[in-house]
Amino acid sequence: MITETAPAKINLALHVRARRSDGYHELETLFAFVADGDTVTLAPGPLSLSITGPFSAGLSGGGDNLVFRAARAFAAAFDLPEEGAFTLDKHLPVASGIGGGSADAAAALRALARANAIAIDDPKLFDIAAALGSDVPACLLGRTALGQGRGERLVPLDGPTGMPVLLVNPGVAVSTAAVFKAWDGIDLGAMPEGDVLDVALAARNDLEPPARRLAPEIDGVLALLAEGTPLLARMSGSGATCFALYATTAERSAAAERIRAAQPGYWCLETTLA
Ligand code: C5P
Repeated sequence: MITETAPAKINLALHVRARRSDGYHELETLFAFVADGDTVTLAPGPLSLSITGPFSAGLSGGGDNLVFRAARAFAAAFDLPEEGAFTLDKHLPVASGIGGGSADAAAALRALARANAIAIDDPKLFDIAAALGSDVPACLLGRTALGQGRGERLVPLDGPTGMPVLLVNPGVAVSTAAVFKAWDGIDLGAMPEGDVLDVALAARNDLEPPARRLAPEIDGVLALLAEGTPLLARMSGSGATCFALYATTAERSAAAERIRAAQPGYWCLETTLA
């Protein structure tokens, strides 16, 4: 049996630069990953998917699940039979801006690559990933990177590994397509260059205003995060999960404790940048 972790991704920054004629948007985004996420296991057998874990309810285990789609695309690309008994242990909230589905698809591709002795940096894997979704290549790379294009063109970067992070989700699912559609179309400018943390501090998430209009709960999450002592508090991706970075684990724990007391129903994960 092969086990692959599917860490949550966060967008430390996300600048939307233009609408494209293919329905996507031209982006500059700083991808980072945290130390926690879902787990995908692969055992020999016919193609199947069983979903366990705290966020398994409400997630389709049918043929449209990204793990299945990854397995089928992998088999087609490498001319192999469609097979593999997958288990997805779902710890990340669904449709929440931290790339859960994309991370699962990337983990499934990694597991299949290992099972079939295919190099993890095989360019074909990245092509499959890009066809599955804009965030899947970044999740396959699994390290801090600048994403360009629709997010699939990647430049690996050295990030602030080990930095304490708090992730907070208010329990509302947000449609990525709807948030991009609600973007006001105004290009607010390029992402600066330089040290990842400095860039993150100086940059923005341009999807915050449209996401906040669609899911006003995000306002409350950002207000709760701003009450503590974060170096940075921002929404990730198209939301609704927001993250905050802290200088120390004590500051992160104090914020988590305060937020759990104020909003016991919110999902609140204390983790670190990977
Ligand atoms: O690539 P993915 O299937 O994850 O994207 C979901 C939706 O998000 C797309 O159909 C599109 O509406 C929107 N999107 C976008 N620009 C991007 C990435 C996603 O408009 N760069």
